[in-house]
Amino acid sequence: MEKNKDKLGCSPKNKQNEEDGENTGGVLIKLSDVTKDYEIGEYIVRAVDNVSLRINKGQLVALKGPSGAGKTTLLNLIGGLDKPTKGRVMSFGLNISEMDEKSLAIFRLVHTGFIFQNYNLISTLSAEENVMFPMDLCGHPLERQRKVAVALLRDVGLEERREHLPIQLSAGEQQRVAIARAISNDPPLILADEPTANLDQETVNLIRVFFTRLKELQKTIIIATHDDLLIELADRVITFGDGTIVGGS
Ligand SMILES: Nc1ncnc2c1ncn2[C@@H]1O[C@H](COP(=O)(O)OP(=O)(O)O)[C@@H](O)[C@H]1O
Ligand SMILES: [Mg+2]
Repeated sequence: MEKNKDKLGCSPKNKQNEEDGENTGGVLIKLSDVTKDYEIGEYIVRAVDNVSLRINKGQLVALKGPSGAGKTTLLNLIGGLDKPTKGRVMSFGLNISEMDEKSLAIFRLVHTGFIFQNYNLISTLSAEENVMFPMDLCGHPLERQRKVAVALLRDVGLEERREHLPIQLSAGEQQRVAIARAISNDPPLILADEPTANLDQETVNLIRVFFTRLKELQKTIIIATHDDLLIELADRVITFGDGTIVGGS
């Protein structure tokens, strides 16, 4: 696996070159007139409607808004999990709306940590293997993958559960594994979709502490959330409604 490291572009050198924001004046993410339509049969749902937005490096942005407003779609577009129907998404100085799938996969692996609302753990892998997975894709040596995974699982209070499969973990524990996995490659951008929704209080507290630490590490963070305490952490709050920005700045 080690020999694949450069091929996948996961080396810190590549990361740093794009990260320093030299050509972007501190703006890390720039959406220009972005629209996302979903076609269902003869119907078209406009999930994101002509949105322009800039997010600076190191900002923690909270994204609020009712269910169906388009928050998840916006996160997916910013994280390169989906492509706009119209408009352009620039991230780390790269036009990710025009990248081919393979380049996008590498972009996501190196630059983004995604925390999904429904955890999205790989059901056949243990907690530890789930956390190791992004590091494995980057070609890091197995020993290092394991060391980092154990340390991260200890951080989220799951050291004892590291051999467990997702199905053997509670919802809160699965989300903690998902958070450890999202940061295992030390990505500069963290995207989180309602990360504290419907979870036990202990996990909610732990997640809040985690985001406080990531903020101190100057990560760029975008969280779709209704959690008042997470919103309090934000440098900027954007309210989304009906596919557009209806409040905030
Ligand atoms: N994959 C999809 N296919 C079709 N419609 C979708 C899809 N994803 C989201 N939508 C629709 O787009 C709109 C915005 O959804 P979403 O981004 O999930 O909003 P939120 O996260 O704010 O609840 C909704 O009307 C939803 O039904
Ligand atoms: Mg959503």
